[in-house]
Amino acid sequence: MSAASAPHRLLVRDLAQVATPAGTDAPLRGSALGQTEVIEDAYVLCEDGRIGAVGRMRDLERLDGDVDELDGRGKSAIPGLVDCHTHACFAGDRVDEFAMRARGASYEELHAAGGGILSTVRATRAADEEGLREAVRRHLGWMRRSGSTTVEAKSGYGLDRETELASLRAIRSEGAVPTWLGAHGVPPESDDADAYLDFALAEVLPEAARLAEAADIFLERGAFDAGQARRYLDACRDAGLALRLHGDQFTESGAIPLAIELGARSVDHLETTGEGGVSALAGSDVVGVLLPASALFLGRPMPPARALIDAGAGVALATDFNPGSAFCESLPLVCSLAATQLRMGVEEALAACTVNAAHVLGRAERKGRIAVGYDADLVLLDASDWRYLAYHLGGEIVAETIVGGHRG
Ligand code: NIG
Ligand code: FE
Repeated sequence: MSAASAPHRLLVRDLAQVATPAGTDAPLRGSALGQTEVIEDAYVLCEDGRIGAVGRMRDLERLDGDVDELDGRGKSAIPGLVDCHTHACFAGDRVDEFAMRARGASYEELHAAGGGILSTVRATRAADEEGLREAVRRHLGWMRRSGSTTVEAKSGYGLDRETELASLRAIRSEGAVPTWLGAHGVPPESDDADAYLDFALAEVLPEAARLAEAADIFLERGAFDAGQARRYLDACRDAGLALRLHGDQFTESGAIPLAIELGARSVDHLETTGEGGVSALAGSDVVGVLLPASALFLGRPMPPARALIDAGAGVALATDFNPGSAFCESLPLVCSLAATQLRMGVEEALAACTVNAAHVLGRAERKGRIAVGYDADLVLLDASDWRYLAYHLGGEIVAETIVGGHRG
């Protein structure tokens, strides 16, 4: 075989541990969520972008031909982290608003006064497509350095045809998984939410459906109500998009029943979800995406993670990276919050931001596990015990990421 056609191989050897969610199911729920398979003194062999073999060093067979080697001594490997909920495409920042909130202004008050999401809409509309691409690239770079190898990113700071479609193109071109958040808010030029939805569904959806994989909506007091969300999501589903919802962030406004009725992939936030919502979600196939960095950043109650998991719901963890409610790109920090604030086990946190997050993105057959045949996306942690992922609060825990069998 000529050198040009030889498979690219990378052997990560002498790892202190390889840790991966156990089994092959997705999403993991109940006690299965907390099952982690740990191999000590281990190797991972990446072959042509996939995982070719994983096991104990003592069982490693001799490899003929060209193989790049990476010394894993003192490190542990986990699957590349999957961030299934980010708003990575925006221009400007909200640092002034953050400083005002630090002195007592509330997020909802700032939003109602034309700040909040709408101030980022103004900045994003003022950027050109190359500027949006640069912003997405910068944000994805931060995420990659924190161990995220698969990232979803939403539009939603354009809310006009040109900027929404430019956002989706920028997200795609930078390699993130695009979600059309065409109903993130009502822009100032629209008379009301219904008039805006008429426009978005008629003028933006046809092209957005070609660019995005899923649609999302902010179902909340001051944004869109359940009837409007049904209309928007029905049309998006008919156009071939998977469905997601922002729900129960500030008020329980019917997001969970609607998500279940429409067969959505996920309902995200859930800070105000009560017992009825917990049991309804647990009896469904809809995943609850928990965003504890957002609850922390806004000083809001944490979502009822323990109740959801104990009732049997599928849960995922994500950053919600955005300029207003969660300027945080780090899934390891989110895992620390899960372990300290959500009463989740470290094992549960790992599964929630790998295999279960991959399921939310329709990628659980290829992403989220270190097992033969999966994509060779790995994070090497700078610790011989993988649980430092959550233990090292805000620490520089990521030594290296490997994506598709390549370093960097
Ligand atoms: O998920 N809640 C709505 N959307 C975002 C916040 C966006 C923003 O504040 O810019 C969220 O928290
Ligand atoms: Fe969000």
